[in-house]
Amino acid sequence: MQLIDTHCHLTFEQLADDVEGVVARSEAAGVTGWITVGTDPQQNRTAVEFAERFENMYAALGIHPHDAKDVTGETLTELKELAQSEKVVALGETGLDFHYDFSNRTDQKRAFAAQLEIAKELNLPVIVHCREAFDETMDILQQFLRLKGQLKGVVFHCFGGSAEQARIVLNHGFYISFTGVVTFKNAETTRQAAKVVPVDRLMLETDCPYMSPEPMRKQKINEPALMIHTARFLAGLKEMELPDFAEAVTAASKDFFGLP
Ligand code: NI
Repeated sequence: MQLIDTHCHLTFEQLADDVEGVVARSEAAGVTGWITVGTDPQQNRTAVEFAERFENMYAALGIHPHDAKDVTGETLTELKELAQSEKVVALGETGLDFHYDFSNRTDQKRAFAAQLEIAKELNLPVIVHCREAFDETMDILQQFLRLKGQLKGVVFHCFGGSAEQARIVLNHGFYISFTGVVTFKNAETTRQAAKVVPVDRLMLETDCPYMSPEPMRKQKINEPALMIHTARFLAGLKEMELPDFAEAVTAASKDFFGLP
């Protein structure tokens, strides 16, 4: 059985010092591929270094909406250059976060649109972070597609929307990715959304070091090994055997990111 953690932050300080251990525990648990996701220029550089170190590790590079206020022309030039590294498989995470509003919304929208441009130019799929900004995120994506044509792919990561919103995302041909949040007791809305996502458009992620899935929620620092619990949970929700479910979502992930 093979599973890919399609969105982890192995470069964050909680995990980076022991990345060998993190990878070994992950492999032992059956999670044998990783996309480590950068969120700012420094994390992006480290993400590329990590991806070069491990065979089945890849990098996604972007500026998180929290850091949109710091995005300059220079930031974008560097991002575009670095994103041409061999093991970079996506742009992101980028998008809108109106829950925290750590950057003002105008800056967030501008940084998001600029990163869509880079993704289009480099023909890379995009990892979208969307929190309490569903309509605005869809507006920007739709406008971009209308003006510039198709993107290689779009995934809504750590999906926290409703079944209705999931349908809208799917109708655009986008993918949806779930974290361990789907296992939480209070996440009934997310479970309803997961039910409407076909397994060939569904991906799994930890978004670690945050949000360990049940029954490991007490483990403060999440890591890719724990994704097996999310996989088992969602296989159950889909009324599938775990190996069949794993095969389907891994095929979807490889397809989306263009992995071997
Ligand atoms: Ni993330």
